[in-house]
This record gives sequence, structure tokens and C-alpha cells, in this order.
Amino acid sequence: MQIEQLRLETDGCKSIIHLNNSGASLIPNAVRDQVMHYLQQEALNGGYETKEEYAEVFSKLYEDVGALVGAAPGEIAIFSGSTAAWSSALNSLEFQKGDVFLASEVEYVSNYLNLLQCSERYGVRIKIIPSDQDGRVDLKALADVLDEQVKLVAVTHVPTNGGLINPVEEVGQLLKGRDIVYLLDACQSVGQMPLDVKKIGCTFLSATGRKFLRAPRGTGFLYVDKEFVDRCRPTQLDFASANWLSETEYQLRAGARRFELFEANFAARAGLAVAARYALDVGLDQIWNRIVELSNYARSRFSTIPEITIHDRGERNCGIVSFSFEGWHPKELQAEMRKRGINISSTEKTSTLLDMEKRSLEEISRIGIHYYNTQEEIDQFIGQLMDLITD
Ligand SMILES: Cc1ncc(COP(=O)(O)O)c(C=O)c1O
Repeated sequence: MQIEQLRLETDGCKSIIHLNNSGASLIPNAVRDQVMHYLQQEALNGGYETKEEYAEVFSKLYEDVGALVGAAPGEIAIFSGSTAAWSSALNSLEFQKGDVFLASEVEYVSNYLNLLQCSERYGVRIKIIPSDQDGRVDLKALADVLDEQVKLVAVTHVPTNGGLINPVEEVGQLLKGRDIVYLLDACQSVGQMPLDVKKIGCTFLSATGRKFLRAPRGTGFLYVDKEFVDRCRPTQLDFASANWLSETEYQLRAGARRFELFEANFAARAGLAVAARYALDVGLDQIWNRIVELSNYARSRFSTIPEITIHDRGERNCGIVSFSFEGWHPKELQAEMRKRGINISSTEKTSTLLDMEKRSLEEISRIGIHYYNTQEEIDQFIGQLMDLITD
């Protein structure tokens, strides 16, 4: 991997140390240029006309986003973010009183809020899949609770609050052959590691553009299994998602694009197209190897500093490193580092309430390391932490 070259292709790398990739990554220059050019064309030629000009880009968008997760173009719908995609998937389905939703313990706040609202609407019970001693979905416990009542299993691949990776393929194996919807939140894993929806066996997968995928804010996508999509009835329709046939009839569009509305931020989408291609060109295997190497380096250095407690769980870890730094509230640490030219972040108890309560954690600090970061940047960050200890 040509790190120097890749860093040259991202202007943000010149001025800051960006370790907030689990919040939003620095976008490559090519993504920025595409968005700006698109807007410029809109200003010069008109919005509808520009969309026509970019027809090939938008057609490639579905191919490339699909390729990121092993899906066909017709199985992808573009959204404004992960929650928009996830909740649209959930709410396109009907449930009955007595049905059961199973949810992972590290489910993201916004997913869980939608589960609660949906359970309130239909009288569905939500049960939590216990985690094993490593913090991952306990496969044995999951197998034990799978019965006829279970209609949906919601799993977050990589939680917002740490380096854990859930065993999503193994969950898929357990659900195989059962009429259970498998709704996967891959918001923090898309763009970070190779993913294959066919191996995972999920019904839906949701993701955002701005995190490890390095796309502009306000972008995201939903994968919908083509064998399942005909059972989905999205709650929001317009003439892009359905055809008006007569006074009494309409017909939903075929494929995942029944989830899309006509109006969208097409400049951002054009940027998403570049970001998806960029990630594919860098190579998901290479990206993942580099992230693992750098984040393990950060964890091993952290582990030698008594003032730092690492909170990551799991047998293997990803690029998110969560920790506490003695004497510093995460928000204060974030503000102090910002003054020093280093972007880090923090995650609040309510982002992953069930997991944080179980571990008696309030707010914790978080860095999200990407392939374009360097060992030197991690060293500099640690140097600044040491400086705070000696202050
Ligand atoms: C695991 C996880 N899921 C979902 C989301 C929500 O994504 P969005 O803000 O794009 O809806 C986040 C955001 O931090 C997240 O970390």
C-alpha cells in the first residue's frame, strides 16, 4: 500500500492528525472534487440536466457500492445515512402481537429506538441476545432462543463504542433456512473490512458513507436480499419507488430501489460513487490489514500506560479503540486534543445503553484508525497524552 501517495491524495492529512474515522473520515480529494464539480454543473446547467450528464456515474454507483459488500446493483438502495436505511428496512415489514425481535447487546441507540417504536406499534417483544465472555453475540445462547416466535434478529457488526467485531457469518448460519429477517448494521464495518452479504446471509445490511468509506456526509445505503425484496413495503413512496397504475392500483418498483425516493442530494451521491470506487481500488483486504496492524499497535502502546484503560472487547479487534484516560473527561480530552491538532472523539453511555450499563461505563474516549493514518501519528497522539500526564 502506497501510504505516502494515499496521504497526498487527502489534503486533510497535511494539517491534522485525524483519528476520528469512526465519526467521519477525511474524504479523499477526488471525492471533494467530484462533489464540488457536480454542484458547479448544477449551478451552470440545472439540476435535472446535471443528473442526466452523470447518468453513467450513478449507474456505476450501484455496482461499486454493491461490490463493497458482495451484492448485485439491484440489491442496493442509496440513503442519506445508516439509520435512514436501517429504519426503512424495519418499517417496510409487518409484525404481529406476540412476535419476538432479538437484538444484540451492542445495538446502536437509533436502531434500538426504532425497534422500541415498532414493538409498541405491533405488540412485539424485544429480547436481548446475551454476549459471551468476550462481548460478542453468544451463538449458543442465540441458538437456544430461536423459535417460531422470533421474526427478526438485529445485529450490529461493529459497535460504535469499541473494537468488537460480532460473528455475523456464524449468526447467519444459525438463521439459515428459517423465516427470520436478519437485519445487520454494518455502519462501522463497511469500508473498514471486506464484507460479503452472501456469506453473511443477512436479509438487510445498512451502512453510512461518512465513516470508514470516506464518502461525504449525508450518504448511506441499504442492501436488500433480492430473494426477499418483494416482501418489503416501504412506508414512504413516490413515483420513483412505485408506479401509479389506476384509481385503485399501484405497483412497487422491482428490486431495492423501491426504497428510494426521487429527490436526493445528488452531489453527495456523486461523491459516494467516487468514495466507493476509491475503496475498491485501494483494496478492502489491504485496508483491513493495515487498520488491524495500526490499531493493534495503538492498543499495545496504550497497554503500557497506567493512566489508560482500554475498553475494547472481543477476540479480534478492529480500528476502533476505546479507552479512558485517568483524570480527563472524554469530552475535555477531545477538546484539548483538538487544540493540539488531533481529532479524537468520545462515545456516550446512551449510544449503546445496554452494553455500557452492563459494564458500568459512562462516557469513554474513542479513536477510529484508518489506513491513511500512520504509526507516527499514533506516537504523536500518545506523546500528547504523556504531556498531559506530566503537565
Ligand atoms: C454502529 C452504528 N450504527 C449506526 C449509526 C448511525 O449512523 P447514521 O448517523 O448514518 O444514521 C452509527 C453512528 O455512529 C453507528 O456507529
